[in-house]
Amino acid sequence: MRSQSNGTQLKVMITREQIARRVEELAADISRDFAGQSVIFVGVLKGATIFLSDLARHSSVDATFDFISVASYGDGRESSGEVRLNKDVDTPIEGKNVILVEDILDTGLTLSFLRKLFLAHQPRALKIAALLDKASRRVEPVNADYVGFVIPDEFVVGYGMDYAERYRNLPDICVLPPELA
Ligand code: IMP
Repeated sequence: MRSQSNGTQLKVMITREQIARRVEELAADISRDFAGQSVIFVGVLKGATIFLSDLARHSSVDATFDFISVASYGDGRESSGEVRLNKDVDTPIEGKNVILVEDILDTGLTLSFLRKLFLAHQPRALKIAALLDKASRRVEPVNADYVGFVIPDEFVVGYGMDYAERYRNLPDICVLPPELA
């Protein structure tokens, strides 16, 4: 199956229907784990925005949103190896239930950096939700509590994820072939 962006045909790895079903399951897990409690969904800009909005809308917890921004990838495919915080949360997280929402867990550098940073602020609970997990690429030992799909080592775009800021609006998760990178 193929998905189209401005005339470019990309191979679909995960369809919008598969994404929708899995995100509903993750939201049900979160609703069960935090029943009767408040949760701050903290999205990592910009790739996690679509995932966060679907995840939050399908969960029944008392929710607020916040966003952080980090720099790790440049405009290319490879991580620079260092992570920098560009935008912090707007509200204090001490004593709160926090779910960090990320598009892809790849080397783990970003989430291991964020996990340490957040734990230093003493949240009541800290969980990680990652839509995709490229488990074979892990450098830092970090795992997500809620994982959508474990995927092979291919560069993917769509459903919020980009290559050089493009393709975020594709409804399916697609493989970006090397010749387009
Ligand atoms: P990590 O720090 O290596 O785990 O990288 C996490 C970040 O790298 C993700 O939040 C994405 O922004 C980016 N990334 C890793 N793999 C991909 C991909 O296949 N497509 C788009 N972005 C990716």
